[in-house]
Amino acid sequence: MAEIINGKEIAAQVRAGIKEETERLIQAGLQPGLAVVIVGEDSASQVYVRNKIKACAEVGFYSENYALPEQTTEKELLELIARLNQDPKIHGILVQLPLPSHLDENKVILAIDPKKDVDAFHTENVGKIMLGNYEFLPCTPAGVMKLLEYSGIEVAGKDCVVVGRSNIVGKPQAMLLMQANGTVQICHSRTRDLAKKTAAADILVVAIGKAKFITGDMIKEGAVVIDVGMDRDENGKLCGDVDFDSCFEKASYITPVPGGVGPMTITMLLQNTLIAAKSKMKDK
Ligand code: GUN
Repeated sequence: MAEIINGKEIAAQVRAGIKEETERLIQAGLQPGLAVVIVGEDSASQVYVRNKIKACAEVGFYSENYALPEQTTEKELLELIARLNQDPKIHGILVQLPLPSHLDENKVILAIDPKKDVDAFHTENVGKIMLGNYEFLPCTPAGVMKLLEYSGIEVAGKDCVVVGRSNIVGKPQAMLLMQANGTVQICHSRTRDLAKKTAAADILVVAIGKAKFITGDMIKEGAVVIDVGMDRDENGKLCGDVDFDSCFEKASYITPVPGGVGPMTITMLLQNTLIAAKSKMKDK
């Protein structure tokens, strides 16, 4: 039976540290500020954005929330980003993805000042992560690394398997595990004999967006199983990419959904915003 990694509790510990540091910064005359931009009516995105704004208030950040209509033009969105890039109250800019299909995500991300790119999606920041000399780490993969660290799970020398190759999670997750000296394999929809690969993992990170896809028979006895999924099961109930019950029996550690990786993603966003604000202080 596995030990459940309590993401809510770990997130609360990290956020308490961020709050303390924010109080010191505010006393020194600088309040970290985050602008969150959402375009359109996607209901999951609206929940995420609401949680991000709430988390900012809880640690004492200044925040601005821009909820733009679905038919917002690229020009309007780029103008807003240009304005936020110049705004000294704003240290981090987050444009919630996905954007409506008439907007070019890549162009929008590249418009964000890399120093304010707290998602670490800009090519400049992605390149720095690849080279290992980054300021910001992408929030979800960084959150996973923090969960491993706080749970005392050593990555060095371990066989790590990442299921999913998205730019937001899979690819950067593999990079971070490798930088922590894990031996990493990335699996995806075209991988042959997936179950054989997942069953070889000491540390398995799953981010494919398919409800309960990884079952107990696909994992190794004693594996660490990290579930990045946010899906709905056949009854509409929130669940992950991992079939928790069957994997719980075999794993040594496992993250639940909700209450695992999710709270860490927002925590790392706060951390990145704090880093962005502190680097502004150094520039002064
Ligand atoms: N959509 C899903 N995850 C994320 C994220 O981490 N950041 C942004 N901006 N959009 C997302």
